[in-house]
Amino acid sequence: MKVLLFCVYNRFMDNILISIKDLEKTYKEQNSFLSPKKPPLHVLKGINLDIIKGEIVALVGESGCGKSTLANCILKLINPDSGEILFNGSNILKLNKKETFEYRKKIQMIFQNPYSSLNPKMKIKDTLLEPLIIHKEKNKEERIKEIISLVGLSEADLRKYPHEFSGGQRQRIAIARALILKPQFIVADEPVSALDVSICASIINLLLDLRDKLNLTILFISHDLNLVRYLSDKIAVMNKGEIVEFRKTEDLFLNPKDEYSKYLLSSMRSIKL
Ligand SMILES: Nc1ncnc2c1ncn2[C@@H]1O[C@H](COP(=O)(O)OP(=O)(O)OP(=O)(O)O)[C@@H](O)[C@H]1O
Ligand SMILES: [Mg+2]
Repeated sequence: MKVLLFCVYNRFMDNILISIKDLEKTYKEQNSFLSPKKPPLHVLKGINLDIIKGEIVALVGESGCGKSTLANCILKLINPDSGEILFNGSNILKLNKKETFEYRKKIQMIFQNPYSSLNPKMKIKDTLLEPLIIHKEKNKEERIKEIISLVGLSEADLRKYPHEFSGGQRQRIAIARALILKPQFIVADEPVSALDVSICASIINLLLDLRDKLNLTILFISHDLNLVRYLSDKIAVMNKGEIVEFRKTEDLFLNPKDEYSKYLLSSMRSIKL
């Protein structure tokens, strides 16, 4: 029995892509010439979260609860004060410069606004080429053709500039850029909240399709509970810097345990009515 439990545990640990342990972040007090001194802001309060390979995990919670701060720590854009972020078992907070460069290839970000995340002066082909050059990748042309077709655009689109596309198409290009280096993990911070509802559905279906084809793991940050119910395997509910509940999506919707999760779900239902 003990051996069986040990094997099951090891199998589970092997499948974890990201493991966050006791993560803390405080934004220090800021001196500003124009506004009064702001006190320190304790934004992440002992975050623990395991994300299994191939899963879509949604991170939900009110504005200002710390979702993007957590995402930025995972992306190594900011440093937490303490805690660990393990990626495939190694602590990304201890990586040297070279290892950080390699890590940045494995994780990518999709932003809320596809227009500001694309360089307006660069043709789509150059936008996709840039990360391949930085990371000295081979077979650049083939990779670009492959990825542009995967996101549902054509090779002719490679010669165009961002302003020649609709919002939905631009988000497809941003997704292509995020995927061009074959990352394992994608952080999508409100990737469809700037899009029309009809276009939003096609982008969500594209993400689901890409997850299956490329075996991606995705952290999807959103305010839209209907959307995350459709899209995600699990939901992490965040409130004031803490993850108060982390469950399989349907379990959470059918039987929320935490008071704040109940409040979030009930406000969603009342909006629907
Ligand atoms: N660089 C920073 N310096 C100081 N305070 C910050 C900084 N970035 C964020 N904050 C503050 O930290 C808190 C959490 O911000 P964060 O952006 O993580 O929230 P969020 O959950 O992503 O919100 P939203 O849903 O509105 O995007 C907010 O009060 C925000 O004002
Ligand atoms: Mg945010």
